[in-house]
Amino acid sequence: MAVALLFLCFLVLATTTSDAVIAHSDPQIIQLLRPRAGVAGHPDSEINCLSWRLAVETNNIRNWDLVPETCEDYVGNYMLGKQYRLDCEAVADIAIEYAENLTIPDDGKSIWVFDIDETAFSNLPYYARPSVGFGAKKYNSTAFGEYIQEADVPALPASLRLYRNLVKLGIKSVFLTGSSERYREAREENLKKVGYYTWEKLILKPISEKGTSSVYFKSKERTKLVNEGYRIVGNIGDQWSDIIGTNVGNRTFKLPDPMYYVG
Ligand SMILES: *[C@@H]1O[C@H](CO)[C@@H](O)[C@H](O)[C@H]1NC(C)=O
Ligand SMILES: *[C@@H]1O[C@H](CO)[C@@H](O)[C@H](O)[C@H]1NC(C)=O
Ligand SMILES: *[C@@H]1O[C@H](CO)[C@@H](O)[C@H](O)[C@H]1NC(C)=O
Ligand SMILES: [Mg+2]
Repeated sequence: MAVALLFLCFLVLATTTSDAVIAHSDPQIIQLLRPRAGVAGHPDSEINCLSWRLAVETNNIRNWDLVPETCEDYVGNYMLGKQYRLDCEAVADIAIEYAENLTIPDDGKSIWVFDIDETAFSNLPYYARPSVGFGAKKYNSTAFGEYIQEADVPALPASLRLYRNLVKLGIKSVFLTGSSERYREAREENLKKVGYYTWEKLILKPISEKGTSSVYFKSKERTKLVNEGYRIVGNIGDQWSDIIGTNVGNRTFKLPDPMYYVG
């Protein structure tokens, strides 16, 4: 009995550690971390966390503020485990297949719009902090700003793979983010560091436009691009506000993000 129990413990340990590749061994990509306990939320809670996540991904629940406290472990488990990575890779597979099918004129005007946070980059090292709780605790913009300034944010591997394929296909990338112009230097350094080594434009939100909605800002900037003669053949983001509005592009792709909502 004791031996069987010991063996069981070993098995559990072996499976969790195989998932728990230590971060920082390769700063270029996000690594699997030890998934947190808790799968579907607390059984006594009225919220089913899987249903909640589906509702936020489909934009049925909008303008939500924080991840329900009862779903903190569930969201943490999803984000740090395999499923989030698989879901992102599936999005990239579809986007790459779509892009490979396009006929790209040789005029350098075909572009792909990438959002930055939770799209080009993954902020999991920040959101996994106990003080943040995968979006279940109040967001601290000062702490997040400091984290951005370090310019050490890992790439979201699926998006980097899409980017590399687009480069090969002759589709130029435009990074369009609602994060502030004040982070331009850090973002440039960070993009290059993780492998996004070239882009057509990097558009950040001017300090004077702080407070305007993401849908408004991004629509306006995409319209400018179209007026400059660019063709937005694809557009990818983790927020619905990245992919709705005007001039969204010929096809849009939504990455998962159950950690926060930007309208
Ligand atoms: C790519 O083109 C082929 C041939 O025209 C078509 O069968 C396929 O559905 C297209 N795939 C996508 C993802 O558009
Ligand atoms: C927010 O983060 C800053 C910088 O890390 C810290 O000094 C401050 O105490 C935090 N504020 C709250 C309310 O936790
Ligand atoms: C892409 O979208 C533009 C603007 O809506 C449209 O004019 C064009 O025909 C679309 N191209 C393709 C290949 O669907
Ligand atoms: Mg984003």
